[in-house]
Amino acid sequence: MSQHSILVTGGAGFIGSNFVLQWLACEASPVVNLDKLTYAGNLQNLEAVSSDARYEFVHGDIADRDLVRDLLRKHQPRAIVHFAAESHVDRSIHGPDDFVHTNVSGTFHLLEEARAYCCSLAPEQKSAFRFLHISTDEVFGSLGPDDPAFSEKTPYAPNSPYSASKAASDHLVRAYHHTFGLPTLTTNCSNNYGPFQFPEKLIPLMILNACAGKPLPVYGDGQNVRDWLHVSDHCDALRTVLAKGVPGETYNIGGGNQKTNLELVHTICALLDELRPNDPVVPHRQLITFVSDRPGHDRRYAMDARKIERELGWRPRETFETGIRKTVEWYLAHETWVRDVTSGSYRQWIATQYSL
Ligand code: NAD
Ligand code: TYD
Repeated sequence: MSQHSILVTGGAGFIGSNFVLQWLACEASPVVNLDKLTYAGNLQNLEAVSSDARYEFVHGDIADRDLVRDLLRKHQPRAIVHFAAESHVDRSIHGPDDFVHTNVSGTFHLLEEARAYCCSLAPEQKSAFRFLHISTDEVFGSLGPDDPAFSEKTPYAPNSPYSASKAASDHLVRAYHHTFGLPTLTTNCSNNYGPFQFPEKLIPLMILNACAGKPLPVYGDGQNVRDWLHVSDHCDALRTVLAKGVPGETYNIGGGNQKTNLELVHTICALLDELRPNDPVVPHRQLITFVSDRPGHDRRYAMDARKIERELGWRPRETFETGIRKTVEWYLAHETWVRDVTSGSYRQWIATQYSL
């Protein structure tokens, strides 16, 4: 692939696959997608581009230094767009090891190889090279009801093993810019929703359980607040940061859509009452079940995204109302994807294909 390609890590996951699809639809340059295909990686998400000459999939771990070195040498990418991570808070509570392996050590190894690669480039390519690190609002901790939203200046205060591991990776990225001059960009985004999200996360879980007449497990009192952003807007923001962001800077990305979990689940139920009047349990809200709270559950997240709007001109296009309706409709229209993910049959295919 040409010098203008980009190397995406974790491109078979939820946001990464949406990003690869959007990138190939909107940009000219090729994409190399390095993904370990954990339970969260699903190549079915990328079926639409699997035969695109500008797309190449590489199965592997970001912590595999030899592999990363070879890929950088071979493809000479102009940017690394780093999504690969363990991403689910509940899993990080049950088993944090993988979070440290990928989010902390994996990012470290990737940075080391990126640094060596960047040093090897001619001055013109070196000044154009970017390392874009995708992070989360969860590194900032939890807000009280009347606290102002997180800004780029908010001190880090991560509360879960997931957010602590992401905070560690953000700090490493910062240090590689500060100490070695690696041209890094870091983005911290609020909760995403949209197509191809693994149904362990709140929105797809609620849609699929509600359709099946299964309980809708709301943690605690359901009053925790998240700031929701449609994944297409996140991907659009990332392309903007890559094109116009200033190396060494961080950018908060958010949708300005603060909802309590209970409000959100009620919205999904109301949409399903309209779209699926013949489901086993209607109205769907009867399925709402309050369950034990998540340990250490952050109460509220909210993002102040004025910097990226002011400096780079990005703002979300999707309103919450349009985005959530499209998302519910997407899960209803993609029965095969849903069936394969929930039955685990995509894992069997991956195991056969990649001898896992
Ligand atoms: P995801 O769990 O859906 O996907 C993660 C992908 O990374 C998978 O394809 C997985 O196979 C791959 N991966 C995991 N470990 C790997 C390794 N060691 N080497 C190579 N690939 C590996 O996650 P997501 O929701 O798409 O999140 C992507 C990124 O965005 C993460 O860094 C996450 O912290 C960040 N983020 C997510 C959200 C959100 O709401 N989902 C919000 C803000 C930021
Ligand atoms: P989640 O999608 O796991 O994202 P995060 O924890 O990274 O914000 O959860 C979103 C919110 O929904 C969070 O406050 C936890 C809550 N939640 C439930 O109430 N029930 C569930 O079954 C899940 C998965 C999440």
